[in-house]
Amino acid sequence: MAIVPEIKQRHSIRQYKSKKVPEKLINELLKAAMFAPSAKNQRCWEFIVTDNTKQLLDLTPYTLPLKTAPHAIIVIGDKNKSNHWIEDCSAAVENILLQATKLGLGTCWVNMYKSGDEKLRKIMSIPNNFEILCAISVGYPDRKKSDHLDKEFEKQKIHYEKF
Ligand SMILES: Cc1cc2nc3c(=O)[nH]c(=O)nc-3n(C[C@H](O)[C@H](O)[C@H](O)COP(=O)(O)O)c2cc1C
Repeated sequence: MAIVPEIKQRHSIRQYKSKKVPEKLINELLKAAMFAPSAKNQRCWEFIVTDNTKQLLDLTPYTLPLKTAPHAIIVIGDKNKSNHWIEDCSAAVENILLQATKLGLGTCWVNMYKSGDEKLRKIMSIPNNFEILCAISVGYPDRKKSDHLDKEFEKQKIHYEKF
């Protein structure tokens, strides 16, 4: 299968080396995010980069990736700009995850939507017109994971013409 290699190489990374990621590479992730598609090209996403990942640990029970990650990118969408802020921001997130893989970085999508978001809004002074989708942990992976397997392609989930 001629799949884009980073699609199969990408994995959720939950353990990181302490080494910081150069700002230039973080900026490349943000650039990749902003090449994502968005409904009516409204580009309602915005991003908050933080090195203080520890402040996010108690927001939800699933923040393990933020424990060792040296950086996080919080992804938020302006709901007044687009009813499709979830889809727009999700497309941007996937671009970040794939670009990070290309750069040898590890990431993990850490949900904040409807969980931890109001506490996060306060911590980061996020205006009320923005909804909070997730935090993405970013850093150098502690160890390499193997590529996704061909068997994860599940033919039975594909339907033609009718379900
Ligand atoms: C919407 C969404 C929310 C997620 N939330 C979390 C989370 O809060 N904490 C976490 O450790 N992983 C989270 N993940 C990562 C998934 O657990 C992970 O993608 C899944 O187990 C598949 O593993 P892979 O990413 O290595 O392919 C989330 C993924 C998605 C798409």
